[in-house]
Amino acid sequence: MEKRLRIKTILAAKPLDREIEIHGWLKSKRESKGLAFLDITDGSTLAGLQVVADESLSNFTTDVARLTTGCSVAVRGLLVASPAKGQEVELHARQIRVHGWAPPDSYPLQKKRHTFEFLRSVAHLRGRTNSLGAVARVRSRLSWAIHLFFQQRGFFQIHTPIITTSDCEGAGEMFTVTALDLDRLPRNDAGSVDYSLDFFGRPASLTVSGQLEAESYALALGNVYTFGPTFRAENSNTSRHLAEFWMVEPEMAFCDLEDDMDLAEEMLKFLIADCLANCGAEMDLFARFIDKDLPARLDNVLQHPFVRLSYTEAVKELQNCGRSFTFPVAWGIDLQSEHERYLAETLCGRPVIVTDYPQSIKPFYMRCNDDGRTVAAMDILFPGIGEIIGGSQREERFAQLKERMEQAAIPLENYEWYLDLRRYGTAPHAGFGLGFERLIQFVTGMGNIRDVIPFPRTPGSSTI
Ligand code: 4AD
Ligand code: MG
Repeated sequence: MEKRLRIKTILAAKPLDREIEIHGWLKSKRESKGLAFLDITDGSTLAGLQVVADESLSNFTTDVARLTTGCSVAVRGLLVASPAKGQEVELHARQIRVHGWAPPDSYPLQKKRHTFEFLRSVAHLRGRTNSLGAVARVRSRLSWAIHLFFQQRGFFQIHTPIITTSDCEGAGEMFTVTALDLDRLPRNDAGSVDYSLDFFGRPASLTVSGQLEAESYALALGNVYTFGPTFRAENSNTSRHLAEFWMVEPEMAFCDLEDDMDLAEEMLKFLIADCLANCGAEMDLFARFIDKDLPARLDNVLQHPFVRLSYTEAVKELQNCGRSFTFPVAWGIDLQSEHERYLAETLCGRPVIVTDYPQSIKPFYMRCNDDGRTVAAMDILFPGIGEIIGGSQREERFAQLKERMEQAAIPLENYEWYLDLRRYGTAPHAGFGLGFERLIQFVTGMGNIRDVIPFPRTPGSSTI
């Protein structure tokens, strides 16, 4: 007898007329004429397995008849071809054991459609629903596909630190990490906190990006990537922002902006195609219940090259399009989400890569273009999402980088190691960061970023 068989394996292999044992949770139950039909799911796949139980089971009235949605059970029985419509196989139970009850008067997940908002309030249970379970499986597959993509191309994964003393994006949106007693902070003569007495002897934070450390290893191993959690203390309460999100950041030596964009486009297409090929049932569910236009939108991304547009051209398009935006458009502004969405959704109707932004609105590490006022930056804007990737060619010239850092008032003493990368064997290099949750949003059609990460962290929220 095969124990602990997963339903996914059973449905794929259909080991008919064999005794097997499964474990899972009851989704629903139907009773008729001394028979109980149990729809059991074990999370391995969207589909459930139908279990047929009859009164000959010794615990039919004491246990089986009392089962409700959410109870967990072990079922031993014979897998047979199903005579009824709706499923190819069913399990005729010879023994049913109850692992755990789920009292219907208190179990929050009943067999009906719950709103995503409600499900967020039971984040520890919502993975058991069809939609959030499907998101979790897609998330796992996309994570794996990221490794596949880079490993197949000879990239090395670098584990960049989570605790850091550098502010990569220079935006000051970092969460402090300290071992000081917050009720009794040591002060220096000037009255500020004396971080020399803190754990690291200076201020430390959670990383906003692994890029700077990835650059160091790109300039040693050539092509590398880092994929991990990043943290931003920005007070953005939108359906696209999290305080803790995952980012994929490749970094390549001897690489310019053009190569960088090519890789980003290839990667996004690879990831979407991989998900379509490996998560068929989940993708069908999203198309049916979340967004009926999803298949067409994904196909549109796969079929066409991304539009490439300079920031200066994008600004002209926005100024001449005849729309009035909440944030007025002028050369030098940072593009707002309404502008990004106009470009991707209305102007181009597909992903757009906007390049060569003004230096003044981008971080210090981006390479200055010959015009002296723009940098070799690129943002990839997706319909319905806005910015999904931000990247650039890095400033590899020592003098230019140092000048930029001084202008930006960056404390050079903390970044000597970063300058060393330009002092010794510097090389042109480039990379980008993909917001993993925004990718999952695009692939699944889920409207709110809080629903594509198991336990979302957002301003003011503190569940689990
Ligand atoms: O554009 P960002 O800030 O770029 C960087 O951090 C670079 N250091 C990346 C690099 O070149 N290696 O962030 C990259 C991406 C954005 O395009 C967006 O998709 C996502 O990360 N992102 C967020 N996702 C969810 N919540 C937030 N608060 C996010 N901030 C950025
Ligand atoms: Mg950005």
